[in-house]
Amino acid sequence: MPAVIAITSEKGGVGKSTLAVHLAGALAERGLHVALIDEDGRIGSSAGWAQRGVAHGTPLSFEVLEPEEVRPRRLRDLDAVVIDTEGRPRRKELRDLSERADTILVPSGVSMLELEATIALAEFLNTEGGARRKLKVILTRVPPTSGAGERAREDLRDAGLTVCNTLVRQYAAYLRAAELGVLCRDLPPKEDAGGRAAQAWEDILSLSREVL
Ligand SMILES: Nc1ncnc2c1ncn2[C@@H]1O[C@H](COP(=O)(O)OP(=O)(O)OP(=O)(O)O)[C@@H](O)[C@H]1O
Ligand SMILES: [Mg+2]
Repeated sequence: MPAVIAITSEKGGVGKSTLAVHLAGALAERGLHVALIDEDGRIGSSAGWAQRGVAHGTPLSFEVLEPEEVRPRRLRDLDAVVIDTEGRPRRKELRDLSERADTILVPSGVSMLELEATIALAEFLNTEGGARRKLKVILTRVPPTSGAGERAREDLRDAGLTVCNTLVRQYAAYLRAAELGVLCRDLPPKEDAGGRAAQAWEDILSLSREVL
């Protein structure tokens, strides 16, 4: 059975879909058989990302499935399944997700509000028999130079949370990649205005090695 990695957060717009698409891409680059399941389905979710890639003639290198397309037989031969979820899930949905997933990856920005929301989510999962052990926080949209990412990582660890060493830095390459429906790795140089797509991809590869 595949390793199931669910990406969720109690706040919207923290970078779940961006991470879901890129993490699946990094696992695929490493030779793993991976599929992404889009359990969000609104505009801005991974399925739309994949459709934009197809429309531009540069499809993603892994399957992106909608929940109704998921068949146990289709998943059985995979190494990993990444699940992109809706922002602001209800607690019941979180509970269900935490039962289905092997890893619950929670993206968090470094602002005080986002860190507080992340700690509150961990406290909830802690009440859900063992779910906290599956939880890994990934700091994302981290300002590349301020040291805020390192400080946030320490603060969350002091609060008892498991936090990935990798900091996913904030780069414009992710926005352009989303618009074109590709991975930042595959951005043509003329589309990489900030020139940081390669650094962005290094962050993602590093995260993928921490997760699987
Ligand atoms: N590391 C990053 N650097 C720069 N921009 C980022 C990064 N990660 C995400 N973003 C941008 O932040 C915005 C929100 O990202 P995304 O859509 O991935 O969040 P989400 O958590 O899936 O949102 P929702 O809750 O609406 O599903 C997007 O414009 C995206 O391009
Ligand atoms: Mg999303």
